[in-house]
Amino acid sequence: MSDHRTCRIVVLASGAGSNLAALMEAAANPKWGAQIVGVGSDVPGCGAIQLAQQASVPTFALSLQDFPDRAQWDVALANEVAKYEPDLVVSAGFMRILGDEFLVQWQGKTINTHPALLPSFPGAHGVRDALAYGVKVTGVTVHLVDRGVDTGPIIAQRVVAVRESDTQSELHERIKVVERQLLIDVVGSMARDGWHADGRNVFLNSPVSVE
Ligand code: GRF
Repeated sequence: MSDHRTCRIVVLASGAGSNLAALMEAAANPKWGAQIVGVGSDVPGCGAIQLAQQASVPTFALSLQDFPDRAQWDVALANEVAKYEPDLVVSAGFMRILGDEFLVQWQGKTINTHPALLPSFPGAHGVRDALAYGVKVTGVTVHLVDRGVDTGPIIAQRVVAVRESDTQSELHERIKVVERQLLIDVVGSMARDGWHADGRNVFLNSPVSVE
C-alpha cells in the first residue's frame, strides 16, 4: 500500500454487525489510517448491511442460493470485492468459509476475527465449544485467512476469562467487547504502519498489546 493514501478496507459480515459498527466508528477518525470503502454479505438485509447503508457506505450481498454452486459464488464474491480495490479485506462475523476461488485473488490481504484462542475451537461455534470443554480462559484471535477453517497465521490474540456462571451468550458478549477493540487495534496498525509474514509468523510493524 502506498504511504500517500488511506488503507482501503472491504468488510464482510453476515450478522448483527457490531464489529462492523466498531470499525466504522474507528474510521471516523482519519488518524486511524483506514477507510471502509464497501461492506459485503451473504445475507441480504442483515444488520451489518443495514448499518452500512445508514452510514452511506456502499454495500453488496451475494446469497449462496442464487449461484449454481459454491465455486461460482466464491468467484462472484472475489470479483465484487475487487471493484472496491481494497488493500485489506476484513471478515468480521462473516459466517461463510472463503473458498479457493476467492483466496486465489485475496489470500494475503484477507483477515478474520474468531471468538476463541486459535488453534483451539475453530469453526462456527468457538464460544460454545470452549465453554463445553471447560476452559478457564478463552478469547479472540485475529488471523490471516488461508484455505483451512480458522487455520491461517495468527496476527494477534487477547484473552477473556471464563466465569463459572457463564452462559454461552454472556461469555460471547464479553468476548465481543474485547474482539471489537482488538480488531480496531489490528486493522489500524496494519493500515498505518504495515506488516509482513514469514511462514506462520506475522509481524506488525507496530505490535498491538495482548491486553
Ligand atoms: C463475532 O463474535 C465473530 O467473531 C463471530 O460472530 C460474531 C459476529 O458478531 N464469528 P457481529 O455480527 O460483528 O455483531
